[in-house]
Amino acid sequence: MHDLWVNYPAVPEQEAAVAGALRALLERGDPLPAEYGPPEGAGAARQAIGALLGLAPGQAVALTCGGQSALGVAFAAALAAAGPGRRRIAMEAHSFPMARHFLALEGVPTLGLPMDAEGMDPAALEQALGGPEPPGVLYLMPVVHNPLGLTYSAARLEALAAIAARHGLWVVEDEAYAFLADPARRPPSLASLLPERVFGMWSLSKMVSLSLRLGAVSTPAGRLADAAEQIRIRGLTANPVIAAATALLAGDGTAARLMAAKRAEGAARRALARARAAEVSLAPATPFRLAGDEAPFFRLSLGGEAERDRLAAGLRRLAPLLRG
Ligand SMILES: Cc1ncc(COP(=O)(O)O)c(C=O)c1O
Repeated sequence: MHDLWVNYPAVPEQEAAVAGALRALLERGDPLPAEYGPPEGAGAARQAIGALLGLAPGQAVALTCGGQSALGVAFAAALAAAGPGRRRIAMEAHSFPMARHFLALEGVPTLGLPMDAEGMDPAALEQALGGPEPPGVLYLMPVVHNPLGLTYSAARLEALAAIAARHGLWVVEDEAYAFLADPARRPPSLASLLPERVFGMWSLSKMVSLSLRLGAVSTPAGRLADAAEQIRIRGLTANPVIAAATALLAGDGTAARLMAAKRAEGAARRALARARAAEVSLAPATPFRLAGDEAPFFRLSLGGEAERDRLAAGLRRLAPLLRG
């Protein structure tokens, strides 16, 4: 079976890099932590990882045991900020299934809004905000959207940020796959456009290695304590040893090198897909869809197979099936 369903951007050297960081920690001879420490993570680890993420000025960062946890904390903190009267989330018509499942389990109503090639339609958001039950939170994946792969234009993000500011919307910005975009060409983050209203999230597992199971959530300046309380009560604190090892990888440039290697691998895989299966895309669209008619899409994940040759073989098998 060739896996074209899941996406775990990986390069062969990543696990050795994590093992090296763990070894360096042990060799340094520091005692292992004798207490849980702050729920948001130790200050030194947060600082090193925050620098790797390129936190927007005015934002604070907390660490969690995975990106999914970071997303849940961002949702919970943003909903708390919005207040009970606006406990409703506007999101893209096609969105990350685990976000939908989290919000369904929490009993939070969601509203899927239409998109075009530049991202969510600002007019549709304005209309929803003018309705009888305006959402209090907006959830977006502006850079390397899952599952559509699109990246918002800077103009679209500025328009959406202006609407959020005008209507007192809190924003959850999902950066899970943003590291796969060229940092010099990606649009500014929503957090940099609207630092006082955005909760960001990242998956260090995807950026570095799944073995870390580490995530990060950023908050507006005065909201870190709210996120920390969500982390404490839900038991989502990042493992401090893993956080310290990741901080070493962030500080010595290894994490940035792994991310660059993953970007290069992603570019090579996209070229391969264009060559081998120009008109295909796979994995049912239904779990990603929030609104509108059933879309004639599949999701084809290029990051699931660990080896590029196996991806090529999978695409070779797929192409004739789709042709005919
Ligand atoms: C868009 C998006 N957000 C968040 C996550 C959660 O990240 P993690 O795998 O670190 O839990 C994922 C994982 O697939 C994702 O695709």
